[in-house]
Amino acid sequence: MQRITILGATGSIGASTLDVLARHPDRYRVYALSAHGRVEELADACRRVKPARAVVGTAEAAGRLSQLLAGLDIHVDHGEQALCEIASSPDTDTVMAAIVGAAGLAPTLAAARAGKKVLLANKEALVMSGQLFMDAVREHRATLLPIDSEHNAIFQSLPATYARDPQAAGVAKILLTASGGPFLQRAVETLEAVTPDEACKHPNWVMGRKISVDSATMMNKGLEVIEAHWLFGAPADLIEVVIHPQSVIHSMVSYTDGSVLAQLGNPDMRTPIAHALAFPERIASGVPQLDLTAMAALQFHQPDFERFPCLALAFDALRAGGTAPALLNAANEVAVQAFLEREIGFRDIDRVIAEVMDAVPHGPAPSIEAVLAQDARARAAAKSVIARLRA
Ligand SMILES: NC(=O)c1ccc[n+]([C@@H]2O[C@H](COP(=O)([O-])OP(=O)(O)OC[C@H]3O[C@@H](n4cnc5c(N)ncnc54)[C@H](OP(=O)(O)O)[C@@H]3O)[C@@H](O)[C@H]2O)c1
Repeated sequence: MQRITILGATGSIGASTLDVLARHPDRYRVYALSAHGRVEELADACRRVKPARAVVGTAEAAGRLSQLLAGLDIHVDHGEQALCEIASSPDTDTVMAAIVGAAGLAPTLAAARAGKKVLLANKEALVMSGQLFMDAVREHRATLLPIDSEHNAIFQSLPATYARDPQAAGVAKILLTASGGPFLQRAVETLEAVTPDEACKHPNWVMGRKISVDSATMMNKGLEVIEAHWLFGAPADLIEVVIHPQSVIHSMVSYTDGSVLAQLGNPDMRTPIAHALAFPERIASGVPQLDLTAMAALQFHQPDFERFPCLALAFDALRAGGTAPALLNAANEVAVQAFLEREIGFRDIDRVIAEVMDAVPHGPAPSIEAVLAQDARARAAAKSVIARLRA
């Protein structure tokens, strides 16, 4: 029996994880679930899987959840410290890190420091803390498995010996595929007028609102480039983004002998979730088998950095290193939130990030405290750019 904590259980990844777990009651037991404010949804999940612990964002939310769970033996708590506890408890083996944004950093790091099997969906945590996070994984012998479908595909396309001896693997390129999101074909001059609902309507994937906007700006791919750098120890020049609108090939590895290995599947996050949960075994995920004969032609082309300036900003941040990716991530989170709340336009997202990257100095990232201080500075700078844009 693997005992599981799901951080972000009410989200899109959280729901897909619960779906896969429900198919294998003989293998998995849920130890703890977390949410932020969607208390009713968390209560529903708790009634189904009866975890020992449930954590929400505030004392008020915890009070409401306790009332909804009256009569059930579930310990209800709130706040970051409680999230870190359920991520690092000796009563859990595996942690699904599926909180969205920087809020996931502390509990995901706590899981790594406790030597857990960490299933990483929360790419922002790794983007922010890069080397520090990977050092914690190594030092505490945690197991880190990627949930992002692209990184999961790359992981599956690399040899098992890659972590031990990356040189011998002969990797020529990591080919990160990208659907291009909903605005791949839309006239660039109309992007200023995009609404949050249009931006959240992804052609292939059903996801939370923040990552949906990130996909529309292609910042999601930018964050994934940085994530791939850390997960696979790959320099920026080894990582290439390839637009593949059908999202059937989830990513590829190109080798020095001319071989290209790819992982294919229907666009459904239950596949990478099931892969990581059962690794190195395989289990059913509920995802239908890919019907190759029913597939339309697969297309590939280069990304347009003028249409998607966020992708260029992310490559710049990766090359700059240190705290630059944390600045990028924080500015993006603030700008996306402001866009979703209709305070700024779609194209203002990249303007805010570019201004913050220029205005806030970045440097080495010697500690998590230094990263969090930069994160706070970038958020303040982004808010002041947004205030000016709105004036
Ligand atoms: N969705 C996908 O297909 C997909 C694919 C690859 C990677 N990812 C990554 O997986 C992560 C989750 O994405 P998602 O689409 O599942 O997001 P989502 O649907 O928006 O869910 C986010 C989860 O995080 C919780 N949360 C939000 N703010 C929080 C805070 N301040 N403190 C603690 N918990 C908080 C939410 O709780 P409430 O519901 O209570 O607000 C919810 O459970 C993101 O990092 C995303 O980039 C997602």
